[in-house]
Amino acid sequence: MKVRPMIIARTFEELTAARTSLGPTGLIATMGALHQGHLALIEAARQTGLTPMASIFVNPTQFGPKEDLARYPRDEAGDIAKLEEAGCALLWLPSMEEMYPKGHATTLHVHGPSQHWEGTQRPGHFNGVATVVAKLFGQMKPGAAFFGEKDWQQIQVVRRMVADLHLPVRIVPVPTMREEDGLAMSSRNRYLTAEERKSAPKLHAALKHAVQYLISGKEPSATLHNARHELAAAGMVPDYVALVHAETLEPLGTLQQPARLLAAARLGHVRLLDNLAVG
Ligand code: PAF
Repeated sequence: MKVRPMIIARTFEELTAARTSLGPTGLIATMGALHQGHLALIEAARQTGLTPMASIFVNPTQFGPKEDLARYPRDEAGDIAKLEEAGCALLWLPSMEEMYPKGHATTLHVHGPSQHWEGTQRPGHFNGVATVVAKLFGQMKPGAAFFGEKDWQQIQVVRRMVADLHLPVRIVPVPTMREEDGLAMSSRNRYLTAEERKSAPKLHAALKHAVQYLISGKEPSATLHNARHELAAAGMVPDYVALVHAETLEPLGTLQQPARLLAAARLGHVRLLDNLAVG
């Protein structure tokens, strides 16, 4: 659906000039390699009556030294075509120098919901996410920002950061887009081999089973143990499967609301992430 030609800004001057004509906006911050999940965020912004703007920046500060920054998928031309088609009004494509200018000396250090799970598996990751998201908010001045629930912990970290820094941005979570077999859409799924792709939906299946067990009154520790077992049987190496408070991300020993089930597991070279509401 094409609404109007998309403006592409590559310098801060271009961004500022383009930004003034847009009215109330919704930001979809991305690292590119866009899929249906990202386009659903654009659509959610449109449905809310906001003008959708997107950013594409593969942010080095959220990757650890042993992580896949160099091989993170990049497809600028394909991404531009998808965003235009989806009715995105403005795309911010900053360079490294625009985001981290020479002499930059300010980084956010987040605590609270960033502490466990991805925070433990990927030390420093959420500091990098919070820093770049705060920069994007400052540069693009959205009224709202739309994030996919697949990265549930990221949403809670960003919400906390926005509340703590009194940033005038509404954070809007959008349900995870899934393939027909339940696999959560992710830019990294393209790295699954054909065989791994067949096993990958078992992460979602294990979480669904666990939610059913918890709701029917089964003990959380036994439920999580079962889920890890299911993942291992599907050839995955679980990093964690956890029942947590949906906002603070603190682990829950008993089922209390609001609760969320989080999981991350390695399948070959790919790390899969997923989560579900419990109840
Ligand atoms: O979710 C992502 O793609 C990234 O973490 C984000 C929010 C664009 C920050 O780099």
